Amino acid sequence: MRKAIALLLSAWIALPMLADEGMWLLPLLKEQKIDEMKELGLKLQDYDIYSPEKASLKDAVVIFGGGCTGEVVSPDGLVLTNHHCGYDAIQTHSSVEHDYLTDGFWATTREQELPNEGLTVTFIDKIEDVTDYVKAELAKDTDPNSMNFLSPKFLNGLAKARVGEKFLQDNPGTEVEIVPIFDGNQYYMFTKKIYSDIRLVGAPPSAIGKFGADTDNWMWPRHTGDFSIFRIYADKNGNPAPYSKDNVPLRPKRWMKISIKGFDEGDFAMIMGFPGRTNHYYTSWEVAERRDIDNTVRIHIRELRQEAMLEEMLKDPKVRIQYASKYAGSENAYKNAIGSNWAINKRDFEAVKRAEQEALVAWGKQHNQPQYEEALSALQQMVSDRKELRFRKWMLDEALLRGVEFSRVPTQVDSLKAALQKGDKEKTKAQLDKLRTAFERFFDKDYAPDVDRKIAKVMLAEYRRLVDAASQPAYFSTIDSDYQGDVSAFVDELFRKSIYGSQENFEAFVSHPTIEALENDPMIQFALSVKAEQKALNKALQQFDDGYSRAHHTYVEGLMKMNDMADMWPDANFTLRLTYGQVKGYSPRDCAYYGCQTTLDGVMEKEDSTNWEFVVPKRLKELYNAKDFGPYGLENGKMPVALCATTHTTGGNSGSPVMNANGELIGINFDRNWEGVGGDIEYLPDYQRSIIVDIRYVLFLIDKYAGADYLIKEMDIVK
Ligand code: ARG
Ligand code: ASP
Repeated sequence: MRKAIALLLSAWIALPMLADEGMWLLPLLKEQKIDEMKELGLKLQDYDIYSPEKASLKDAVVIFGGGCTGEVVSPDGLVLTNHHCGYDAIQTHSSVEHDYLTDGFWATTREQELPNEGLTVTFIDKIEDVTDYVKAELAKDTDPNSMNFLSPKFLNGLAKARVGEKFLQDNPGTEVEIVPIFDGNQYYMFTKKIYSDIRLVGAPPSAIGKFGADTDNWMWPRHTGDFSIFRIYADKNGNPAPYSKDNVPLRPKRWMKISIKGFDEGDFAMIMGFPGRTNHYYTSWEVAERRDIDNTVRIHIRELRQEAMLEEMLKDPKVRIQYASKYAGSENAYKNAIGSNWAINKRDFEAVKRAEQEALVAWGKQHNQPQYEEALSALQQMVSDRKELRFRKWMLDEALLRGVEFSRVPTQVDSLKAALQKGDKEKTKAQLDKLRTAFERFFDKDYAPDVDRKIAKVMLAEYRRLVDAASQPAYFSTIDSDYQGDVSAFVDELFRKSIYGSQENFEAFVSHPTIEALENDPMIQFALSVKAEQKALNKALQQFDDGYSRAHHTYVEGLMKMNDMADMWPDANFTLRLTYGQVKGYSPRDCAYYGCQTTLDGVMEKEDSTNWEFVVPKRLKELYNAKDFGPYGLENGKMPVALCATTHTTGGNSGSPVMNANGELIGINFDRNWEGVGGDIEYLPDYQRSIIVDIRYVLFLIDKYAGADYLIKEMDIVK
């Protein structure tokens, strides 16, 4: 009996610990969450994870490219990230002869590692709370309308002033940045070191790295080997330098140990990385706005667009390849919007936020601080006032700017017109060459005019049905005046008449360029008209921005005063954060339970040689049949593939290291379940899971599948 009570009590006391919400800033770990983390099983001290003085785990976590995370895993600068994060690099090096997307790529020597123009890896050297400094500087500003408190230009200027020009000159590749958090109620300065010679070392074939493609995207249980490998190169002093043959692999301050010991359900897990954006401090009105305008327009319009696109893709293998990436991009955000609305309704996020607001209003009354209630009324009013404009903007963005590819044809033809006007042959030729380059960028190898034509008809019809005639781009009036409202005839005519309508049209124009042809070109007029509407809408919406930002700043300030700061985390803004929780499955609906670990058995179950998304490479099947898993298999003889955990992640966390209680790498984060994407607004502990490729699958693929065991030898593996 006593034991039962003790158990009950400990379960009860442990309850709040199950709330794995939060994207925590590292310098606050010690005051905020380290004790809870230890209670959940963490074996490390706060300074092992983050220390301002000495090397710590955080020094092995990097920004990969412009929107992903990566981790350093060897003393020779090897970096792991996702296949979908390295995708552009892999694609760029691919050709029909060397199709690395299809076949995978493995450099067997350092000489074979492939440089990637424009790709960077960024270390965070230093993180400082500079709130007092920034606020003191802001106080010098007497302009009551100043928006400096959120201005990147102003804040980064302060950052530079603080460290001094000399520091930046003495440290090549180093940049400093001050970012507002909590809507400008606090400020942090980040000192970054940016390496720009990053080489591709290895990638599995897409049939592994993208297994399940769009069907499985945002889904658990998952069976994707979503990883790729790069190496950071530096100059002889270890400093960032542009690509050079003479550069050498970077000796990093810190690299991660990798554990192949495995884990059990319930084990502690933590992730460090760069979550891009969350909206945890939405008011109830913004939740409704996001659901009823942003997400709803996106879901509706993309459904139509994708349906038309897929029809063409299924008809023609060439189109399937051309539109694969466009389709995937469209589908990714589409499914996210569906999950977002599902969660908003499922747990009534409006009511959750309303309760927070009401608590703050009551608190304000008690403490004689009416500004919080005023800020809330202002926000409510603004959301209501911008409703029409916001709907129009989302319709324009989704249906026309994204949906109709020819809304992006080159429209800058003034210099060409001027050259034609003057009859200057040489200038005309130069301008025509420029136009050809711009045309080819638009009409690239992945553009199929007939697909664009078909989708455009669907998009235009729906846009015209849903947006007031008076609020459409001006040029659209010709659809009624010249085509009796027949959108299809209008679009066909655009393709027939425009210099951009086909390759032949363009060549015909180039051989006889005239000013009239440019001035009367219907696609140029269409594109200009859409752009004009975009500009007008942005301008109209901007009127709300400053007041909105100020009111939001005040609202969040109120929440910070009312609540315990130990439990508050600032919205994600692509700065380094930590989230922790447990390896754990979930119940997506009544009577169903998903476990936390998938295996190769599931890959074989999903295999479908007639569907490109689920083709399994022969070699993988051989290894599976031979049970040739090396030291990476499970005790029960199966081969692990992916796991899920209660950690709180979002876009940008792709490629993030997932660590066990000892801070050893157990996986690479790459996705969430669709039921969990509402966590960008409100974390749901029973629904949200990070989807992670098991590091043992990664090592198995490197070692057994690719035979690249020389890479394994570089790593620190804990057995
Ligand atoms: N849903 C994942 C993340 O946002 C993976 C996206 C890449 N995969 C895909 N099939 N589109 O961003
Ligand atoms: N797939 C996302 C990314 O690419 C991660 C997520 O949204 O959970 O960053």
